[in-house]
Amino acid sequence: MPEPERAQRQLKAELLLESQKVLGLDALTPGDGDLVFGLDFLVDGAKKYELPYVSANLARPDDTLVFPATRVVEVGSMTLGITGAMGSELGVTGARVLDPIPAVTAAVAELRSKNVDLVIVLSHLGSRSDKDLAKAVPGIDVVFGGHDRKHMESPTVVGQTAIFQAGSRGKYVGQVTFELAEGGSGWSDPEGRAKALRQQSNLKRQIERYTQQLEEAKDDKSRERLTRVLGFAEKRFNEIVIPDEGATKAHKIDATKIPMGKGLADEPVMRKLVDATLDSMGPEITSDPHGDHSTGRNPDRPTKRDWAPWAGAKQCRSCHEAEYDDWKQTPHGGAYAGLVKERRHMDLQCWSCHVTGANQKGGPTGPKDVGPMRNVQCESCHGPGLAHVKEPVKDTIIRSPSEAQCLTCHTEEQTEGQFVLDEYLPRVDHKD
Ligand code: HEC
Ligand code: HEC
Ligand code: HEC
Ligand code: HEC
Repeated sequence: MPEPERAQRQLKAELLLESQKVLGLDALTPGDGDLVFGLDFLVDGAKKYELPYVSANLARPDDTLVFPATRVVEVGSMTLGITGAMGSELGVTGARVLDPIPAVTAAVAELRSKNVDLVIVLSHLGSRSDKDLAKAVPGIDVVFGGHDRKHMESPTVVGQTAIFQAGSRGKYVGQVTFELAEGGSGWSDPEGRAKALRQQSNLKRQIERYTQQLEEAKDDKSRERLTRVLGFAEKRFNEIVIPDEGATKAHKIDATKIPMGKGLADEPVMRKLVDATLDSMGPEITSDPHGDHSTGRNPDRPTKRDWAPWAGAKQCRSCHEAEYDDWKQTPHGGAYAGLVKERRHMDLQCWSCHVTGANQKGGPTGPKDVGPMRNVQCESCHGPGLAHVKEPVKDTIIRSPSEAQCLTCHTEEQTEGQFVLDEYLPRVDHKD
């Protein structure tokens, strides 16, 4: 990792550790991301902020466990037994990750011997391995999974185990209520079942529609696009798990996901911590180095940089006023101001998708080198346009951006599968 990025990430890691203390967590488990600065950084942070880490399989080179394997916590009238595990394929420096199946089996046995009401596994194994774990290790009631950034509202029930996925970047908080039936076993999840069935029939309709469109497609380009979206839809269809109807004496589970969206006010204590971290990133991150971003003037930039082969939206405007006005009112037209408002435009993990031509030939090379390329401009979709400005004919510019072009920024990780070309394209093609 290059030094400036390392320094920024380390400040953020420190913020995460401290904020976990503020959250007052009862238990948490480390994953590979917690170990990028090495084992000592995590162990020191856990000690400094008194974080209740559990892990059945994170070990030192001599195989002794780094954190306790289990934890027993009283919540309301229930006694919860908690363990955690991460994937053994994950490379972590200064530590060893033991095979999760025997490690979790031992931890579950230990918790069962303490007569807990529920055995919970916090998992950094990934959603597929979570299912394997539930099949291989009897006695797990609930798995709360992270790692592969999927999120889901209702659990997947595998045997007697309910599996949740938390999603990524704190976009949601999940709230789960357990209602245990006297002498019952397994989970009944009628809502999850209804939802999965609904999802299944929606996808089936979508697949039929795409298949028909594919048969009627006239050119290679749309055939190629439809084959791809059809592939995505089929993959999602095959991944749906329909929960069993449930035994009559099953326990009940009720889950809701609460979006941590703009509508929610910031928690003052957290806001303070975040602001302090942004401040500590230095003046570059707290003030806009490009000067007044509304006019594009930058008093601090002495030499004029050559942006060829990029022209910039202002030049396009002189001939395509209607498209410019349309673009300006789409989210792309204000994509940089949005980052500035969040004070994240100097953040090395953020800037590149909110500007034009980042890290491409002639384009911005870093957050301090953005200049007139702020926002997701015309050329993010139509390609570098200087040649077209000089010779304004059809041959010198791309008319229809490919889906691949959108996906450079609308990545799976960023959008959690929300990006659907058929829905997104009409909002940016200047047609209404
Ligand atoms: C000097 C005027 C001028 C400027 C500046 C200009 N264009 Fe054009 N553009 C044209 C003309 C004229 C056409 C139509 C050419 C034709 O129909 O033969 C065109 C066509 C296009 C097309 C459609 C191409 C097609 O195949 O139908 C796109 C897309 C486009 N311009 C984008 C841009 C972008 C992006 C910029 C800024 C980088 C830009 N233009 C700057 C004059 C201009
Ligand atoms: C891989 C490209 C990419 C990166 C990196 C990226 N963004 Fe975005 N961002 C997007 C896209 C695409 C959207 C459009 C909305 C969506 O699909 O989530 C978006 C939307 C947004 C929005 C407006 C919508 C909202 O959720 O409020 C903000 C603010 C934002 N990003 C901030 C950030 C911050 C802060 C970072 C760094 C932590 C970041 N972005 C990193 C691509 C990116
Ligand atoms: C998010 C992607 C995106 C951005 C950004 C974008 N366009 Fe387009 N543009 C499209 C799409 C999609 C079409 C429709 C292509 C087609 O008809 O196949 C289009 C069509 C055009 C055309 C062809 C004539 C028309 O209106 O249909 C012109 C000219 C054009 N864009 C200019 C611009 C200019 C100038 C900007 C910046 C001010 C811009 N575009 C920004 C996606 C974009
Ligand atoms: C250079 C990166 C980039 C490219 C390329 C790009 N986008 Fe975006 N897009 C963004 C960002 C960033 C946002 C969020 C802007 C904001 O809200 O601040 C966004 C937002 C959007 C939105 C609004 C989403 C919402 O939830 O309101 C639509 C629709 C969209 N993009 C469609 C497209 C399409 C279609 C393409 C390809 C033709 C495309 N984009 C190409 C970066 C990009």
